[in-house]
Amino acid sequence: MATRSALVTGATGFIGGRLVSSLGNQGFSVRACGRRPRPHDLPQDVEYEAVDLAGGDDLAPLYDGVTHVFHLAGASSSNADEAEMERANVQATRNLVRAAPPGQVERFVHMSSTSIYGEEEQLPLPVREDVGPHPSRTYGKAKWRTEQVVQEATRAGLPTVVLRPVSVYGPGNVKLLASAILDVAIEAFAKLRTVPVPAKPIEQRLVHIDDLLAVTLHVAEADEAVGKAFNVVDGLYPSSHDIARILAGHFDLEVELADDPEAGPSHEERQRWHGEMVEQGMKQDIFLTKERFRFMRKTNRNNRVSIDALLATGFHFEHTDLEASIGSTITWYRDHRWIL
Ligand SMILES: NC(=O)c1ccc[n+]([C@@H]2O[C@H](COP(=O)([O-])OP(=O)(O)OC[C@H]3O[C@@H](n4cnc5c(N)ncnc54)[C@H](OP(=O)(O)O)[C@@H]3O)[C@@H](O)[C@H]2O)c1
Repeated sequence: MATRSALVTGATGFIGGRLVSSLGNQGFSVRACGRRPRPHDLPQDVEYEAVDLAGGDDLAPLYDGVTHVFHLAGASSSNADEAEMERANVQATRNLVRAAPPGQVERFVHMSSTSIYGEEEQLPLPVREDVGPHPSRTYGKAKWRTEQVVQEATRAGLPTVVLRPVSVYGPGNVKLLASAILDVAIEAFAKLRTVPVPAKPIEQRLVHIDDLLAVTLHVAEADEAVGKAFNVVDGLYPSSHDIARILAGHFDLEVELADDPEAGPSHEERQRWHGEMVEQGMKQDIFLTKERFRFMRKTNRNNRVSIDALLATGFHFEHTDLEASIGSTITWYRDHRWIL
C-alpha cells in the first residue's frame, strides 16, 4: 500500500490529540498542528507545526505529501466568544481548504457538530443529515457556516466527508460529561450523602471518544462516504437521571430528585472544595462549571438524530454499555488524578 500521510488540525485538543495516536497505529505518517507549541506527549515520529489557521500564514506547506486531512481545529462556547468562534471555525476552514493543492488530497474529513440543527425550530425526528438546519446558538451557527465553506470546496473537487458528533466523552475529555463527573467527585469529597438533581428528567445524547475515532478512520476509507455528512451518536439517549445515577453510584452516593432546579451546594462551596482537592493533588484539567450539571440541563427538541446513513456504510458502535464506558472513564480520571 502506498504511504498514507495525514494532516491533523486541532491536534492539541481533546479529539485531535487522540486521533493522532490512532492514525499512527493505522500506519499513517502524521503531521499535526495546533496553535500552541508542540505538546510534550506527542509521539516522536509525528511532525508538528504551531500555526494559527485563521491568521495570514501560507498554509500550503502543511499539505506537503498529505493524502488525508482530518480537520478538527475549532472553538466552542466553552472557550471562545462569538468573534473567536467565527474566526477559529469559519475563517480557519476557509484558509485551510483554499490552500489544498488541487487533486492531491484523497479525503478531507471535517469535524462539525449536531449543534448545526438548532434547538428552537422543530425538525422531523430523528433528524437526518439532509434536513435544512436551523442553528439557534452562536456555536451552531458558526459550525453551520463552516460546513458551507466545506460544501463549496466539495463542489470545487475536494473529496470531503463531514462528521456531526453529539457530546463526546471518555478519557481526556475536559468538559460536558467530564464536568458533571467532577461535580459528583466534589460532592463525594465534601462527604455529602446525596446528589440532588432536578426532578424533571432531560434526555441526553453522547458518543464515546473511541467510537468517534473509529468513525473518523472508517469514513477516511469508505468511498461511499465522500461528499456526505454523518451524525455520530451512540443511539442510547439516557435521561439526566440515568446519568446522575451512574455517576453517583461510582462515588457510593445516592441521587435525590429535587423540585428546586437549583438544589445542591452553591458555586462558592463547590469552588472551595475544588480548591481543597487541588491542594490534595488533584489536577485542574476538567472545567469546573458555574452551574452544577450544566451539561445535563439543556432540553433539545431535536435531540434524536438519525444514524441510518452511517450504519449503512457498515459502521458499528462499540461503546453501547453506558454504565461500563462511563465507569472506565471515571477510572481513567482517578488514575490521572483529574479527580480524587
Ligand atoms: N468535544 C465535543 O464534545 C465535540 C462535539 C461535537 C463537535 N466537536 C468538534 O470537534 C472538534 C474538536 O473538538 P475538541 O473537543 O477536541 O476541541 P478542543 O479540545 O477545544 O480543541 C480545539 C483545537 O482547535 C485548535 N484551534 C482553535 N483555533 C485555532 C486556530 N485559529 N488555528 C489553529 N488551530 C486552532 C486548538 O489549538 P490550541 O489549543 O493549540 O489553541 C485545539 O487544538 C471541534 O471542531 C469541535 O467543534 C467537538
